[in-house]
Amino acid sequence: MIHIRQATSDDLFAMQNCNLMNLPENYVMKYYIYHALSWPQLSYVAEDHKGRIVGYVLAKMDDEPTDASSPPHGHITSLSVMRTWRRLGIAEKLMTQSQNAMVECYNAKYVSLHVRKSNRAALHLYRDTLKFSVSEVETGYYADGEDAYCMKKVLQE
Ligand code: ACO
Repeated sequence: MIHIRQATSDDLFAMQNCNLMNLPENYVMKYYIYHALSWPQLSYVAEDHKGRIVGYVLAKMDDEPTDASSPPHGHITSLSVMRTWRRLGIAEKLMTQSQNAMVECYNAKYVSLHVRKSNRAALHLYRDTLKFSVSEVETGYYADGEDAYCMKKVLQE
């Protein structure tokens, strides 16, 4: 039995641990705290029946200075699900909850993310299940030189 709920500050170390186990893109604790303090509504966790965190989505609103005509938009910083809990719809639920909160709390018009070109599972999730589309290719975006797809999904017109 899996419970999806909003992440709290008590979850940050477990989220960081899940990230370390599942992705090469890792972040210092300060960056998790920055998300939790700035946009507490946008990050979610999946916990098992023993209260262990088996997946998370770490999300934010765009915090780059933009011109007045640029619409508010959300960004998925990181998403992962522990290997033994995959293909159960957990990532899809985490993403949907975060996207809904971006609209309800911040009036986000779209959501963006980066994903490795070689990440087949994530590409299927984003493109086929969640209906994101590729907006551009960022050459050499990752530390090892791999290109990223920058993907976007319109949340409201
Ligand atoms: N192969 C093909 N399609 C897949 C796969 C896969 N291995 N995994 C998910 N999908 C697609 C399918 O369409 C699936 O629907 P279906 O099971 O009905 O066919 C759909 O996505 C929904 O899958 P979920 O069960 O919700 O996905 P899951 O909980 O397994 O998590 C994730 C997917 C997050 C990509 C997981 O495999 C993972 O943690 N991978 C390692 C970390 C990672 O790559 N994270 C994303 C990096 S990009 C970023 O963080 C912004």
